[in-house]
Amino acid sequence: MSSDFYKLTVNKAVKETDDCVSLSFDIPEEIKDKFGFISGQYLTLKTTINGEEVRRSYSLCSEPSSGIHKVAIKRVEGGLFSTYANESIKNGDALECMPPSGNFKHIPEPQAEKNYVLFAAGSGITPILSILKSILLHESKSRVVLFYGNKGFHSIIFREEIESLKNRFIDRLSVIHIFSKENLGNPLQKGRIDKIKCENLYKAFLTNTDIDGVYICGPEQMTLDIRDVMLEKEIPNESIHLELFGTSIKKESKKDKKDGPSFDSLITLKMDGDEYDFPLNSNGENVLDAAQKIGLDVPFACKGGVCCTCKAKIMEGSVSMDVNYGLEPDEIEAGYVLTCQAHPTTKNVFISFDD
Ligand code: FES
Repeated sequence: MSSDFYKLTVNKAVKETDDCVSLSFDIPEEIKDKFGFISGQYLTLKTTINGEEVRRSYSLCSEPSSGIHKVAIKRVEGGLFSTYANESIKNGDALECMPPSGNFKHIPEPQAEKNYVLFAAGSGITPILSILKSILLHESKSRVVLFYGNKGFHSIIFREEIESLKNRFIDRLSVIHIFSKENLGNPLQKGRIDKIKCENLYKAFLTNTDIDGVYICGPEQMTLDIRDVMLEKEIPNESIHLELFGTSIKKESKKDKKDGPSFDSLITLKMDGDEYDFPLNSNGENVLDAAQKIGLDVPFACKGGVCCTCKAKIMEGSVSMDVNYGLEPDEIEAGYVLTCQAHPTTKNVFISFDD
């Protein structure tokens, strides 16, 4: 992946809830082919706030065939970009944007007759909503159960759109809201979606369903809890798809590692057809940071092992990763790594963003 950004204009900024804004973008004709996407993928946005370059990834909540590129940005406490988006971005503003990307995706199968279960919490609804619409619109025989966790009624993002989907696809879509701070009258729908809640929801709503696909987007602990329960129900791992946000990823320093390699390496990095050499010392620096240090405009967004924007292929040598929340097993098998998490385990490493 190259780190090319394109200037896009916001054509619609809508306050979805008190602390969430959705932004739709105009995609100029000449770059439309670069901005095709699959439901579940995200856009990486870049802007400068108070002199500091800030980039963040936000999932697309629109569905590809609509021709709309829309993301929703929920304000997080102390969040530079999310606060700026909620307070300042308006129609006509321009933002730098990287083409859609991401491994969390659903490609509809028009002939399929499947049962899907979707779990979302808070703004985790954004990729889930896109996947939901994609299934309902393009798999006319498939059914979906959506479990959606929020604080309460007023914090439901896209409440009206979900209601209208429920009415339109009344035979194929069930929506179960779970509130952490309000009462819906049913104890099952009160609380957070943790292991026990998920087990109880499964018993109540899914016991007799042959589940073909599970899509989960929310905080790390919730997604891992749901995955564990689904695995216990013998749903194959490859049918369970996770997307994390607000993860509590801690950057582990190699300095603190007792068993890590302790030598300096030479990295050769290929990007856009050119090759660059630079050293990487053993003080815990990762490949991405080292590449940035010599001035390379390498692609990245989260720097937390989630988004996969920094994915590159190891052509020679080897690296170890601190965490990986995004790469699929077959990508790892094929030699791909997340450069923001990668530390060399050989003296020489040849790594390519082009392959
Ligand atoms: S920048 Fe997001 S996984 Fe590396």
